[in-house]
Amino acid sequence: MIQRLEELKQNALRELDAIKDPQLLEQWRVRYLGRKSDLTNILRGLAELPIEERKAAGAAGNQVKSLLESVFAEKTESMKSVQQEQVLRTGEADSAKADITLPGRALPQGHLHPVSATIDEICDIFASLGFNIVESNDVELDYYNFGALNIPPEHPSRDDMSTFWIDYENERGERSMLLRTHTTSVSARVLQTQKPPIRVVEPGRVYRYEAVNATHLNMFHQIDGLAVDKGITMADLKGVFFEFSRRFYGPERRVRFRPDFFPFVEPGVEVAIECAICHGGGCRLCGSSGWIEIAGAGMTHPKVLERAGIDPNEYTSFAFGVGVDRIPMLRYGIDDMRLFFGNDLRFLKQF
Ligand code: DAH
Repeated sequence: MIQRLEELKQNALRELDAIKDPQLLEQWRVRYLGRKSDLTNILRGLAELPIEERKAAGAAGNQVKSLLESVFAEKTESMKSVQQEQVLRTGEADSAKADITLPGRALPQGHLHPVSATIDEICDIFASLGFNIVESNDVELDYYNFGALNIPPEHPSRDDMSTFWIDYENERGERSMLLRTHTTSVSARVLQTQKPPIRVVEPGRVYRYEAVNATHLNMFHQIDGLAVDKGITMADLKGVFFEFSRRFYGPERRVRFRPDFFPFVEPGVEVAIECAICHGGGCRLCGSSGWIEIAGAGMTHPKVLERAGIDPNEYTSFAFGVGVDRIPMLRYGIDDMRLFFGNDLRFLKQF
C-alpha cells in the first residue's frame, strides 16, 4: 500500500511539472485529487485493512494528499502570474479575456470648496500686488476686535455685530473673549506687531450671533486688507481696488465708491461693483439697485494708528474688508448660502 502511494505521488509530481496549460492542470486535479481519483479510492479502502496497517497507510495517504494539494495550489498561482506577465509583455491575452487597452477606472478626486477657491483667487491677486497674507485666530480678545479699532465698550456699532462671547472672565471680571466678528481684528494685531511699510491681506472666518437665513449665516468669510506707509492716500485705495476688480471681475465692470461709516476709518466708503446681469439698470440679482456691495473700506482712523504706536502724522494707511461668500453665490447663481456649509457632497461636487 505504502509503495502504491509512493508511485502515485511520483507520477503525479512528474506530470504536474510538465503541465503548461490551465486545462491540463484541471484534468490533473481531477485525476489525482478528484472524488474518483486513485488516492481517494485508497483512502476510502483503508477501513478494510487490519488496524496496524491502516494506521501507517492512513498517515502516508494523508501526507500524499496534502502534498498534492499544496503543489497544485502553487502551480495554479505560478501559472496565473506567468499568464499575466504574458498579457503585459505582449499586450495579448491568450483568451482575449482582458482588454488592457481599456482606460482605467478614474480615482475619485477631491477639489477645493468654492469659498476656499474664491479666497485663494482673491489672495493671489493681492499677493501679486505686493500684499502679504496673514492669518490669525478665530477666538479673539475684545481689544483686537473692538477696542483697538476705535470701538469702545458703549459704542453703538457693537450692536451691528451681535457677538458670540466666550464664557470666560478676565481678572477684572470682564467678558474679554469672543469669536471675531470681522477680520479687521487681524489688522489690529498686524498694526501692533509689524513696522511700516505694511501691506497685508487677512482671510478668515468670522462669526455673528444672528438669525440664520438664505443670505445670513452665523459663520461666514471675510478678507481684510491693510496698507501703511508714508504718503498713502485715498487714491491708492481706489487704484488697488480698480486693479483688483479689473483682474477678478474683468475690465468692463465699473466700481463705485460711496461714503459710509466705520469707526476705524475716516473717511469710510462702501465699495460696490456694477451688476453683471443688468449693468446698473437694476434687476432681481442686485436688488434693483444695479450695484453689488463687495467691501467696506477707508483711510485708517488716526486713533487706530496711534493706539498701535504708529505716528499718524508720519504714516497714513488705507484698509478694506471684503465679504467673500457672496462672490461664489453670485458667480454660480446659488440663492441660499446655507448650501455652502451643509456638507452635502451632492451640492459641493458640482463645482
Ligand atoms: N469690518 C467691517 C465689517 O465687517 C468691514 C470693513 C469696513 C473693513 C471698512 C475694513 C474697513 O477694513 O476699512 O463690516
